[in-house]
Amino acid sequence: MRKSHRSLAGVLIAGLVSTPVLGATSIDAGQALYTANCVGCHGMPPNGLKIDNLVAANRPDLIRRQIQINPAMKFLTALMDADLAEIATFIAYPTTTDADCIFGWGEAILPALLAPRTLSARANGFDYRYYPPANVYVGVAIAATDHQRHLYFLDAKTSDGLLDLGNIGSYLSAALAAGCP
Ligand code: HEC
Repeated sequence: MRKSHRSLAGVLIAGLVSTPVLGATSIDAGQALYTANCVGCHGMPPNGLKIDNLVAANRPDLIRRQIQINPAMKFLTALMDADLAEIATFIAYPTTTDADCIFGWGEAILPALLAPRTLSARANGFDYRYYPPANVYVGVAIAATDHQRHLYFLDAKTSDGLLDLGNIGSYLSAALAAGCP
């Protein structure tokens, strides 16, 4: 195992002990707000919408404008700018699976490696995210039973292959405790 891998596992495991301090915008809060205020008309996940509110990804100003001009959404004027910011973040990065939650948490605690923030893809038996600047992948094995669901890391710059970081259970607990950042 290469040094970089060992330190990655170390940082992730350290994250289990010291839960990271979150920024102002938590996707978990955005999901709660979206579910309370938008889901009835716009659906879940937000990228399966009847109306294209994906235009609002990371654009709270567009949601505010829609509330101002669209009679169907006028009753939402009480939402604060901070609420709209969280909703807009959730629309951009909907956290609808355990893997999303773990990846988002990894991005929060390893911003130098797991960046820029991205969406999950599914292929070859994995839910995964790819980070082009570092040329690395993180993935969760799609498996029938929970104990087979492991977290993996792949550094595509090397020929080391997949690094098994162990069962997702403890990572998921930490990620959930952090609010699926
Ligand atoms: C009562 C139903 C309803 C609710 C609740 C609602 N919307 Fe809408 N929304 C609509 C309708 C209807 C339109 C389409 C208006 C039009 O086509 O002119 C729309 C349009 C939009 C658009 C513009 C889409 C585009 O293609 O330009 C955005 C963005 C949007 N909504 C976001 C939201 C968000 C975020 C929430 C929650 C805070 C929300 N909406 C809650 C009914 C709703």
